[in-house]
Order: sequence, then C-alpha cells, then structure tokens
Amino acid sequence: MKIAILPGDGIGTEIVAEAVKVLQVLDLSFETETALVGGAAYEAHGHPLPESTLKLAREADAILFGAVGDWKFDKLERSLRPEQAILGLRKHLGLFANFRPAICYEQLTHASSLKPELVAGLDILIIRELTGDIYFGQPRGRRVAVDGHFPGAEEAFDTMRYSRPEIERIAHVAFQAARKRGKKVTSVDKANVLETFQFWKDVVIEVHAQYPDVELDHMYVDNAAMQLVKAPKKFDVVVTGNMFGDILSDEAAMLTGSIGMLPSASLNAANQGLYEPSHGSAPDIAGQGIANPLATILSAAMMLRYSLNQPEAADRIESAVKAVLSAGLRTGDIWSEGTTKVGTREMGDAVVAALTGKTIGK
Ligand code: IPM
Ligand code: MN
Repeated sequence: MKIAILPGDGIGTEIVAEAVKVLQVLDLSFETETALVGGAAYEAHGHPLPESTLKLAREADAILFGAVGDWKFDKLERSLRPEQAILGLRKHLGLFANFRPAICYEQLTHASSLKPELVAGLDILIIRELTGDIYFGQPRGRRVAVDGHFPGAEEAFDTMRYSRPEIERIAHVAFQAARKRGKKVTSVDKANVLETFQFWKDVVIEVHAQYPDVELDHMYVDNAAMQLVKAPKKFDVVVTGNMFGDILSDEAAMLTGSIGMLPSASLNAANQGLYEPSHGSAPDIAGQGIANPLATILSAAMMLRYSLNQPEAADRIESAVKAVLSAGLRTGDIWSEGTTKVGTREMGDAVVAALTGKTIGK
C-alpha cells in the first residue's frame, strides 16, 4: 500500500505531520511518499499541481492532503493559483464522491454556536458531488455581452450543468451510504429555479426506485441552509451538487463546534481516495503551532476505512481522538473554560499516547 502525502500550504504541513505521526504508531505496513502541492509547488516548480505530484497521486492507493492557498497568490492568473491543485486532483482522478461527515462529539457540545440541545448527538453526512456542476462546467470565461441587461458591457459567465450518469452515480453513493446508517436521504436542489437541479431531482427520484428501504425527501438549498441551523438532527444523509455542497458543508461543520474537527473523503469509482480536512490552509495562524490537527487525523482514519481496508485501525484512531477530548485537551478553536489548551504537536502527541496506552497529556 502506498500513501501519497501532500501537505500543501499554510497549516497544511503542521497538521499533516501529526496525522502521519499517528499513522506510524499503528503498526501497519504501508509506504509513504511526500510531494509539494498548491502554493508551495508553485513556488518550487512554477505550477500548483506539477506533473510529478499528479503522477504520485495517480499511483498511490490513497492520498492524504493538507490544505492549499495563501492570500499572496491571489493575484496570480487562475490556472496557477493553489486552489487549482485540489480542483485538478479531483478532476484528473475522477474523485466525484465527497463525504463530509458532521459529527458533534459529546465532549464538544458546548463549543457549538448553537444551543447544546440542538447539536447534542448530531451525526449527519453530507455527500457532495465533486467533479461537475458550475465548478467545472464549460463554457466559462469573460466576453462582451451581446444580450442581457447590458448589451455591450463586459461580462463573466460560468456554466452549471449535470449529466444523467453524473447524477445517477452520486445518488447511488448516497443511497448506499444511507443504508449503512439512518436510512434517510435528503436531496438538496434548487429545482424551483434551475433546470439543472430539476433534472437532478428527477434523476434522484428514478434512482431511488432501487432503494425502497431508504427514505428520500427533497429540499431547496435555501431552506436546507435554514433547516441546518434550526433542526440539524432531522438530517441523516444529505446529497447535493458541487457548489451547494461546498456551502452547506461549511455550515454543517460549524454546528459541531469547529471546522477544525471535520475530516473528509473524496472517492472515485475505483475507491481510490483523497483524504483531507474540511477546512482550509488558515494562513492567518500558519507556522504558530496552534492549528487543530484532529480533522486531518480523523481524515487519516477515513482513509484507513475507505481506501486501505483497515477498519479496526480507523476505529482505534477515532477512539483515541475521543479519549483525548475526554481528557480535556483542546486546541484554541475548541477551547472552553475548564479545559486544557494545547498546540498542534501536543494534540498529535496526545492521540499517539492514547493509541499506545500511555497517559494522555504526559
Ligand atoms: C473545499 C474548498 C475548495 C472548494 C476550494 C479550495 C477550491 O473550499 O474543498 O470545500 O471550493 O471545493
Ligand atoms: Mn469549501
């Protein structure tokens, strides 16, 4: 088994180092190879996703990814910006199914900005389609308008589109995931306005015929945004398109206390996967050793479960994270009165201690 390690930019290098440390104490046999990606790769090789990094990612059984991006690259032309690295990996590897669980750990119920009773025990799974929609739809660009409200004016445009097979395959992923948990899928769309999402809804309903044991309902995205903060526990699996999923998954993340806790998995048809925290590179706190590594450590657990067929090792990591939280250790983003504030490395060390039977925090 080979794991490609792509730490990226900002806090990416700090948090990935902790996840690698955790993987190493598990006594599994795998090879790792590290490569530059994002702004770091641009600075070294002139491209955010160099051919050598893409090759490594293609050949690996799984990819552990940190985060990319920094304000200092905002002025570069789009094709050279760090974000193109993650978009390119998703596209070239066909990573169409993005799993973003939002789980509120019992120990963190009070770190949520919502009332504890609304989030206690929360366990929802957002399944975001990741290689289609307005993110990748062609044509896109800038031009002089020939019609619209201001003919002759400069304009920019993107294209929202989904094909039947793209919708079918993500719907199957969602129904199959729901079967293993609460047996309920909410498909989020904007069918009242957008042709793309009327089609989305129609196709999801068709696929649902093969899953009579799973309940399906539909929600417009604006309402879904509201319901997520009103009664989040009513959801089980949420399936939606690329852009709505981007937005709703950040919202769902906050319900759990901190986006610093949330892992994600992006899988292709061959179950090859890219695993990354749901958060970004946080350039404002990079290099300070204070970022929360738990989302990345939990992403490594998802990697063991989904791509490397090591479910027991994944369970062990998840239990170790809970033990560390129960011991009261908190990075700044989840800290509250009466708990112990620790840095990135101490948090990683504590997870390692929990896994190796040592006393946590020593
Ligand atoms: C995410 C990020 C990316 C996205 C960016 C960095 C391109 O926000 O993974 O959610 O929009 O998909
Ligand atoms: Mn996002």
